[in-house]
Amino acid sequence: MKFFLDTADLVQIEEAASWGAVAGVTTNPSLYARIGGKLADFPAHIARICALIDGPVSAEAMGLTRDALIREGRELAGIAPNVVVKIPTMVEGLAATRALANEGIRVNMTLCFTVPQAILAARSGARYVSPFVGRFDDSSEDGIEHLANIVRSLENYDFADTGVNGERIEVIAASIRSAQHVTQAALIGADIATVPFSVLKKCVEHPLTTNGLAAFQEDWKKVDNA
Ligand code: G3P
Repeated sequence: MKFFLDTADLVQIEEAASWGAVAGVTTNPSLYARIGGKLADFPAHIARICALIDGPVSAEAMGLTRDALIREGRELAGIAPNVVVKIPTMVEGLAATRALANEGIRVNMTLCFTVPQAILAARSGARYVSPFVGRFDDSSEDGIEHLANIVRSLENYDFADTGVNGERIEVIAASIRSAQHVTQAALIGADIATVPFSVLKKCVEHPLTTNGLAAFQEDWKKVDNA
């Protein structure tokens, strides 16, 4: 499983990128608003993220019609070669995804919650599909179970002929809230987990690692250096 960082924060992205284990970034309108982003700066901001990360960077198109989404998608894809256009799972989104995929533009279909939505995303040529885990949990449903169903259903079929350049669709486990979600996504076989920086830090840590490191440091002082 690959790790993507789910943030628009350049400081977090630069730090996480330096760890060498982050393969991509996903942003969304809420994350851009959270860092105080300005509308006019959005393309330049995405360009800066693309320069920091050697991998796909999802930027969301905000239109509600296929024409608007296609127009925005082309503009976003023109920012950098590693931009992936994020498009919501809806009728107009499917149509826009098909048109963009036919032009060789990669799409991440977002706000995906069900198996039929994920299969339709794959059929429309999406390069990635993003099932949201935590938001199901928020409404007292098991988000991981929904993710597992989506992964399993996509594995049942060969979507190689539907996407961009024969690339297989990959599942991005999104709306990840904990290291436990990451564990479960990996056991299920999700291709990617996109995680907030706070969760990425928690994924590195374990009390036994911290305590073991402290003990090794202490014991090393006892080694005779004469
Ligand atoms: O990027 C989409 C997704 O990861 C959002 O997560 O925490 O707002 O449900 P969340």
